[in-house]
Parts: sequence; structure tokens; C-alpha cells
Amino acid sequence: MVLLSCLQRCIQLLIWPVYILAYMGLWDSFYKRVFPYIMARFAPIYNQKVCKQKQELFSNLRKFAGPSGQLRLLEIGTGTGTNFQFYPPGCQLTCTDPNPNFRQFLLKSLSENPHVQLERSVVASGENLHEVPDGAVDVVVCTLVLCSVTNVSKVLKEVLRVLRLGGAFYFLEHVAADQSSWTYFWQKVCDPAWKCFGDGCSLSRETQKELEKTNFSELNLRRIHVAPRWSPTSPHIIGYAVK
Ligand SMILES: C[S@@+](CC[C@H](N)C(=O)[O-])C[C@H]1O[C@@H](n2cnc3c(N)ncnc32)[C@H](O)[C@@H]1O
Repeated sequence: MVLLSCLQRCIQLLIWPVYILAYMGLWDSFYKRVFPYIMARFAPIYNQKVCKQKQELFSNLRKFAGPSGQLRLLEIGTGTGTNFQFYPPGCQLTCTDPNPNFRQFLLKSLSENPHVQLERSVVASGENLHEVPDGAVDVVVCTLVLCSVTNVSKVLKEVLRVLRLGGAFYFLEHVAADQSSWTYFWQKVCDPAWKCFGDGCSLSRETQKELEKTNFSELNLRRIHVAPRWSPTSPHIIGYAVK
């Protein structure tokens, strides 16, 4: 415990200018502009690592299409639109993200993936999707988002609200490691600094517990490691939950 807080303090000392900027309220607005460029570089590298897992995960999306055969898909925290390549042809997409600075990257991804149709793009946080009516979508997707939201259970409540009965919530999220592991220790050491450079991202979120608490009728979840295994972002959960 003492070692943990000493190491946390050391890292905080190293990045003290960031804390000053954050205290002055300048860091967040600056970083919201920079973060989309970082994600545009990082997302393709991450996608290469998890390509097989994403292909497998999204392979049964069609199963949740509505009676007309159309698949209405809502993505929370769409970012640069890195998941579009995995969606089936003709799916009707609603994109949501609280950061409007992702737009140019989102449009680029749409032009590279003409098989998906953008119905709507909404600037909104996952905690408040009031622009999307109850039961309006067949599928909700979240990848690398629940680590950054302010309130996971509020987001999951919104997911349940916007999904039609029998619809599904797909997720791929990095999560807290086993609490007895060194990975968990380093997650805790890096967490305060990581929040500043990861746009609010927490390394040690217990997202699985939040999913288990939510009222889904079925939860298909697997724990996996994404290389490199020593990385604090290595432990992931992947799967889907049915309303
Ligand atoms: C690490 S990026 C992941 C982007 C994309 N989903 C992907 O897999 O590449 C995190 C995304 O979550 C978004 N985000 C942050 N807070 C959020 C919130 N409260 N609700 C919804 N999205 C949020 C960010 O703007 C960003 O687009």
C-alpha cells in the first residue's frame, strides 16, 4: 500500500505540469482535440492485434436483425469508426460520441466502408442517450469505452433502454486484472496518470461485475489477454449480452 502510493506520487511529480493545466481547466479541452489524432494512429494497430477476436465476436450480428431483416446498430463512443469494417453489409448505423472532434475521422472511416449506412450521428455521452427512443435498436456496440465513461451502470441502463427485447449488447473492453497479480498493482500505480493521457480512461475498471449486475437475460463473456501480456491494458473481456 505504501509502495503503491509512493510510486503514484512519483509519477504525479513527473507530470506535474499536466496537473496544473488540469487544475486550471485547460488540459481537458486541449486533450479532447488531440485525442482523436492519437486514436487515429492507435486504433489500426489495436485492430490488427484483436482482428480475429473482433471478426469472431461480430460474426453473429445478423442473428439479431429485426423482423424486416434490417439490423439497426447503435455504437457508443464510436471514436474514429474503427469497428465499421466488421459490421455486416446494409446495417443501419447510429453513431454516438461525446467528443465532436472525432468527426473527420469518422467520415473517413465511413467513406472506406460503404457497406454500412450512417443513419444518424449524435454527440452524446453513453450515460444520456435521450435522443434514441426506447427499444429503437437491435444491437448496441461498445469497444474500449466503458473504461472511460463516468458511470458504467448508467451507461448499461441506457443500453437496456434503447435495445429492443431480444436485442444484444456487444463489448470488448480492457479491465482490471486479478487483484492478486502484479498487473493489477501496476494498473493501480499508473491509473492517476493514465486518466490524464487516456481521456479519462481507467486501467482498473471492474466492468465484468457491472455487466453481471445489469438485468440482461443472457451474458456470454470471456476473459482474454491482448499482447503484450505485461501491459496494464492486457486483460480484456469480450462477448455479448442479450436483453
Ligand atoms: C479509447 S476510445 C475508443 C474508441 C472506439 N470505440 C474504438 O474502439 O476505437 C474511447 C471513446 O469513448 C468515448 N467516450 C468517453 N467518454 C464517454 C462517455 N461518457 N460516453 C460515451 N463515450 C465516451 C471517447 O470520446 C472515445 O471516442
